[in-house]
Amino acid sequence: MMIGRSIGETSLNNFEFISKTAPKVGEYVTLNYDGKIILGMIETLIHGSVSLNNDIYDPSTVDMIKAIEGNDFYIKGKVRILGDLNDNLRIPRTPAPPGTKIYLADKDRLNKVFQVKNPLKIGGLISQENVDVNVDINKMITRHLAILAMTGAGKSNTVCIIIDELLKYDGTMVIFDMHSEYVDGEFNNGELNLISPEINPIYMSFSEIRRLINIPSSAYIQERYFREAYKIAINETREGNSKDFLSVLKGNLNDWYESEIFRSKEIKSSEKTKIMDVINKVEDLENKYGFLLNTNVGDILSQIQLGKANIVDLGLSDETTAEVIVSHILRNALRSRKSFIHKKTDTALKFPVFFIVEEAHILAPKNRSINSKLWISRIAREGRKFGLGLCLVSQSPKSIDPDSLSQANNMIISRLVEPQDQRHVQSASENLSEDLLLQLPSLNIGEAIVVGLMVKVPTLIKVDEFKGRRYGNDLDVVGEWRQYKNNQKKETKQTKQTFKELGGDY
Ligand SMILES: Nc1ncnc2c1ncn2[C@@H]1O[C@H](COP(=O)(O)OP(=O)(O)OP(=O)(O)O)[C@@H](O)[C@H]1O
Ligand SMILES: [Mg+2]
Repeated sequence: MMIGRSIGETSLNNFEFISKTAPKVGEYVTLNYDGKIILGMIETLIHGSVSLNNDIYDPSTVDMIKAIEGNDFYIKGKVRILGDLNDNLRIPRTPAPPGTKIYLADKDRLNKVFQVKNPLKIGGLISQENVDVNVDINKMITRHLAILAMTGAGKSNTVCIIIDELLKYDGTMVIFDMHSEYVDGEFNNGELNLISPEINPIYMSFSEIRRLINIPSSAYIQERYFREAYKIAINETREGNSKDFLSVLKGNLNDWYESEIFRSKEIKSSEKTKIMDVINKVEDLENKYGFLLNTNVGDILSQIQLGKANIVDLGLSDETTAEVIVSHILRNALRSRKSFIHKKTDTALKFPVFFIVEEAHILAPKNRSINSKLWISRIAREGRKFGLGLCLVSQSPKSIDPDSLSQANNMIISRLVEPQDQRHVQSASENLSEDLLLQLPSLNIGEAIVVGLMVKVPTLIKVDEFKGRRYGNDLDVVGEWRQYKNNQKKETKQTKQTFKELGGDY
């Protein structure tokens, strides 16, 4: 169907058109010239009238003008050129002649555009829901993905759709589940595998364990004692002499404190206080993070199962625990995949993994230097070569480490209203035009812009609604209050009844 004609100057990237019918933003159009069929996307639309212009100051004038001018209006829009449909969507070398006819792209053509190798269906076009939007799984994983939107706009729903679709392919994901949203989830195409957030200290690096103990970097004497005691405790645990790593660690420090040399006058009392400080700090560590260190578990990587959604439940963990677990898993995954690619057979990860990081702005924050951020950015930069993909999920793009975000070549962006967030997203993605950016505040729940290598063209989509089970849906707060109140009433009634039956006077 022809909807209008190009007007004004056309360029290789975009042009304006004028129309009498109202197409939708995000809709695809085609135009034929020089024997080519060029695909474009409507990025902006305005609806105006020459006679009803901005210089009218009295509403009654509008009625008078309408009576004279009748149906005087125009629809003007801007189209971004996406490429030649007959030539692999290559951008044409000559601009369209002014006045070129613009047609709405038909369904068959669009279906072809969204046919990809190893397709993952995330939804349908906003403008034509019966056109499925598929993304290329290999490109999504190796070139990483960011799912960005304000809270409640549908990020976790999108994550669930992606997990469920990947499970069809024996896809292997590790989800860092910051709010225990996925732990009781149910997917149609595969199973969950829960990985408990516990690490055997023998697999931890010194810097990971150091992160859990509150020794400031300037306190080098405390650090020295801790390091020495740590080395001995690790060796004993490794050799199987002890199952209680922290007790051995504390025991060593206590033995030193009680030792003859230490009791002698030659050692300064300040030194003695320092060792006591370390003992106290190890005790704090034990109280706060003891649950995280478990000498009975194996290497956490060996718990990752092929073809399953592997969920690391971090819902009850504080940020420090989450940071240590995430960096531990990512650091070892990268090491393991590197040695696998270099033909070493004794490695844990013999298959590619897609890591999904919810609350990415906490685990890879812009302004703080923490270990999880270091390893997230390493995977973002190097993961591609080793079959490690990263999916960063966040409601606060402006607070995410820009280096990691800019490595996410693919983006699914829903409603974002804060200008700073919008700007960050745009600077991280070369595929998001200024005009598409302007659409971000007007997207509804579940609607999103998809850009990047995993799709051939930028797309405005309605993400499918996940039909399986997951927590984290909006609560019916009023309903819960009412139910609590009803339960209370029932209880009081029962208590009264019991009292009466016992002959009491309530
Ligand atoms: N594609 C969709 N189709 C229909 N409904 C949706 C869609 N996406 C999300 N919703 C609805 O919106 C609610 C919130 O979605 P979701 O939990 O995915 O948001 P979120 O962006 O992850 O929020 P948060 O930032 O709080 O984690 C869901 O409970 C669901 O009811
Ligand atoms: Mg969510």
